[in-house]
Amino acid sequence: MTTSATAPARGKIVLSLAGVNKRFGAVQALSDVHMEVAAGEVVALVGDNGAGKSTLVKVISGVYQPDDGEIFYDGKKVTVNGPSAAQDLGVATVFQDLALCDNLDVVANLFLGQERLLGPIIDEAGMEKEAWRLLRSLSAKIPSVRIPIASLSGGQRQTVAIARSLVGAPKVVMLDEPTAALGVAQTAEVLNLIERLRESGLGVILISHNMADVQAVADRIVVMRLGRNAAEFRVEEATTQQLVAAITGASDNVVAARTARSEARSAEGPAGTEGDPDE
Ligand SMILES: Nc1ncnc2c1ncn2[C@@H]1O[C@H](COP(=O)(O)OP(=O)(O)OP(=O)(O)O)[C@@H](O)[C@H]1O
Ligand SMILES: [Mg+2]
Repeated sequence: MTTSATAPARGKIVLSLAGVNKRFGAVQALSDVHMEVAAGEVVALVGDNGAGKSTLVKVISGVYQPDDGEIFYDGKKVTVNGPSAAQDLGVATVFQDLALCDNLDVVANLFLGQERLLGPIIDEAGMEKEAWRLLRSLSAKIPSVRIPIASLSGGQRQTVAIARSLVGAPKVVMLDEPTAALGVAQTAEVLNLIERLRESGLGVILISHNMADVQAVADRIVVMRLGRNAAEFRVEEATTQQLVAAITGASDNVVAARTARSEARSAEGPAGTEGDPDE
């Protein structure tokens, strides 16, 4: 696996949060949460079901108002009082359900609600050209931009949803479980696409339950547990075992024990595999 060789230096912080609290009735969904993402950086947000990941994304994207706390965008303190405010700032979100319209074609989906106009009429040719430009910038494999979403594969739909998030030229893109419903090859394609986003200088926040995906593309991993920051790792310094322990809050569970055993085995390694010329 080639990772850090081509990774650009971390740019300046584009988005940061401090002391964010959010309560739903009796549930304290977020307690004093902090996080930051830099330009050209992929931050993975991980944690168990109910840890508060989606709530945090919805606070950043203006769907929920935090009860407390500060959000800084490009160094300035901001109030994100609705999804369109987030969009205007340059924060795009691809929600888990993608929210694509199956019966509309790729172009219509990309520009839904933000259609380009040429005087009083919709600029179909211009939007089609821009659609291809966006998809090409992602090295996306979409056969045609004039076919309905219903005829695309899961990975292609995810690609269209990500391309749509780029229409407003954002600086931060948040992806909620982009590979959850995908097969192996399609997952690899979406991970490549996340690399493209990073290379283009965007700050990316990736929510995933899949530790292999996270370890493949993230630069940093922020672990949440019970609505709080539980741990933070640079990807190269986190073992799967440490991640599982941070996520579950226990180092003595069966998954952690098994990864510990297999990591110990591969550290010992069969004789002669060190310095493998294929690496
Ligand atoms: N709109 C809401 N009303 C009431 N409680 C909510 C609401 N949204 C989230 N919660 C609660 O807040 C907590 C955090 O939920 P959240 O959806 O952020 O978790 P998550 O980390 O995204 O989990 P998952 O991995 O299952 O998606 C949970 O206890 C959840 O039940
Ligand atoms: Mg969630």
